[in-house]
Amino acid sequence: TGHVAYDPGFMNTANAKSAITYIDGDEGILRYRGYPIEELAANSSFVEVAYLLIYGELPSGSQLDEFDTMIRRHTMVHEDFKTFFSGFPRGAHPMAVLAASVSAMSTFYGDSLDPFDDHQVEVSTFRLLSKVPTLAAYAFKKERGEPFIYPKNDLNYSENFLRMCFGFPTEDYEVDPITAKALDTLLLLHADHEQNCSASTVRLVGSAHANMFTSVSAGINALYGPLHGGANEAVLNMLRKIKEEGISPEDFMEKVKKKEDGVRLMGFGHRVYKNYDPRARIIKKTADEVLGKAGGDNELLEIAQRLEEKALADDYFIERKLYPNVDFYTGLIYTAMGFPEQMFTVLFALGRMPGWIAQWREMIQDPDTKIGRPRQIYTGEKLRHYPGVETN
Ligand code: CMC
Repeated sequence: TGHVAYDPGFMNTANAKSAITYIDGDEGILRYRGYPIEELAANSSFVEVAYLLIYGELPSGSQLDEFDTMIRRHTMVHEDFKTFFSGFPRGAHPMAVLAASVSAMSTFYGDSLDPFDDHQVEVSTFRLLSKVPTLAAYAFKKERGEPFIYPKNDLNYSENFLRMCFGFPTEDYEVDPITAKALDTLLLLHADHEQNCSASTVRLVGSAHANMFTSVSAGINALYGPLHGGANEAVLNMLRKIKEEGISPEDFMEKVKKKEDGVRLMGFGHRVYKNYDPRARIIKKTADEVLGKAGGDNELLEIAQRLEEKALADDYFIERKLYPNVDFYTGLIYTAMGFPEQMFTVLFALGRMPGWIAQWREMIQDPDTKIGRPRQIYTGEKLRHYPGVETN
């Protein structure tokens, strides 16, 4: 096996040729299908960006209308899904419930599982985009022990999701437009990030010709890992701790720099970005908007801003090229919107859905795709022979 390259974490191995997302980590550039993330965040919507990622081009006005209508039309989930949810224990983590329910979609929607039937691939694409918000909201309601809210399809994607999470059957729910717009922007910013752990998982599982639902549910499980989707929760815990223990941001920074107890400045640093994460810049503006409204913890925002200011001017962070990443402000925003911490990765999964779908479709259509099957460097015993059972 001398020709096998040892590359843990695939740091230097490209598993795919991809035309979806471009990242230049040194320059802090992120583009979907060639369009800068800043332009999309300022002018587009999550649904339009989903179209762009999946089909490769921005939709015309009528294509967008049709796409949006199709998504709205598929938002209901099978009634029997409710009994599926009732099987989970009270307080079940919504991310685990979401992964399980997306996996279960292949039992409820068995007529769209063939990866090589274009029509079925389209149907499962719509089913994932439309039903995952409903399932995610059900997972949220389940955790809280509150009644499920059916989708209301005159609302747009983000509005509908907010209503399903925070509405009650006995009350009218007014969606706050600033919150809905902010959520839409956050989803858009998370929509794809090339061959990260979950996207690679979706491709690897899909390379065995597993259907789109099961492949995507594997991606959700990968995202559940704290090193991947869980960092925003860690940021929030860090900010709360600083606030509650009354530590000054300056003292906290000293601890980080001395690497006391392995403390890191959560929400800083990235494997690929060695510059300001372009998503963090946009999110910072959103944070100001959402937290400017009632409900936000401005003290935590101030701590975050002070930490950022200090870090950007500090040699420790400058030398190591540590800048704020996408997660630095998202937890604060989600909290201000009323989401508990367990929902943060669920929201990430909702945003990442178009990316996983686009990656799966690109993989399945690519004639170069082979079943993912890494090699290994064997370090075990050399040949030895079974001695027979010792009897003495
Ligand atoms: N605070 C303090 N020091 C840091 C930090 C940080 N957040 N991140 C890296 N360093 C230091 C690290 O100690 C090391 O220092 P030295 O050279 O003296 O040993 C140097 O910077 C390089 O760090 P590394 O761990 O080798 O870098 P990496 O590319 O393997 O890790 C990272 C990237 C994101 C895991 C890391 O920066 C980190 O732990 N950040 C905090 C957690 C976080 O915010 N994660 C979100 C990632 S983005 C969302 C996602 O991918 O899902």
